[in-house]
Amino acid sequence: MRHVISVQDFSAEEIIDILDRAETMVEIAKGNDVSEILKGKVLAAIFFEPSTRTRLSFETAMNRLGGGVIGFAGTEATSVVKGETLADTIRMVSGYADAVVLRHPREGAAKLATQFSDVPILNAGDGAGQHPTQTMLDLFTIRTELGRLEGLNISLVGDLRYGRTVHSLAIALAKFGNTINLVSPEGLEMPGEVISHLEDTGRFGKACHSPEEIIADTDMLYVTRIQKERFPDPVEYEKVAGMYRVDPELVSRGPEHMIILHPLPRVNEITPEVDALPQAKYFQQAFNAVPVRMALLSMVIGGQSNV
Ligand code: NCD
Repeated sequence: MRHVISVQDFSAEEIIDILDRAETMVEIAKGNDVSEILKGKVLAAIFFEPSTRTRLSFETAMNRLGGGVIGFAGTEATSVVKGETLADTIRMVSGYADAVVLRHPREGAAKLATQFSDVPILNAGDGAGQHPTQTMLDLFTIRTELGRLEGLNISLVGDLRYGRTVHSLAIALAKFGNTINLVSPEGLEMPGEVISHLEDTGRFGKACHSPEEIIADTDMLYVTRIQKERFPDPVEYEKVAGMYRVDPELVSRGPEHMIILHPLPRVNEITPEVDALPQAKYFQQAFNAVPVRMALLSMVIGGQSNV
């Protein structure tokens, strides 16, 4: 049984295997080809926190492979409001489904869930912890858009402290021999353990507070939202909200081949004018969630790679 909890659990070869598998799924993801490899299988998507892309792309992935989905989006209508523990919820749901996709506000929740589950758990975000399936689709997008996954100069911009996507992505990118620059407002720097990992692997580029400092040497600019909901004090959020704004002027200072990704949702950190530029790949990135999550589901539920 294979859980998907953090990117550290995957070797570079395993990640490549998932991306290769995802490539074979693109036409099915678009609805041009039909597959029933997960016919009769059920995915439980249980989301204790808001989500648009992650939940819906998992649902589409499962449906396009012939499987079914149960679950909830928000706990208001569930027994969680009666005081049911995560352990009991997982014990029960794992009896109803062949895999469980879990998003939860607490860091470590997905790992904890593995102790109570008879079926694979996929971490769809655990608080400010990790978001490994997002990383797989980020890597897929980098590979398709830039033609390779290694030897790149990557700049991660925004809330590196509370943003779980950048925690997973930084660790994964280091595995492939990329240089990683970190750009955040003061107080929202990357956690020490991720920085140590980058230092240990020799992949730490530059840390700074302004995207202007790194843009000229950036192959991939990864922009993130300030994670308002994780701030213990709203006053602290107000201090940094709107601090970064990627606009056409900033983009024009980067190399022509540079691509811009964002896990979305965006608030105001990328201006709408950027959407029309060839560098903007975040909506393609959001689509790539479907073939990549199909590949992951076929791996953990189907146990096979043949479509
Ligand atoms: C991200 C998340 O939930 O961590 N969204 C996503 O899954 N694409 C990013 C965010 O909420 O800012």
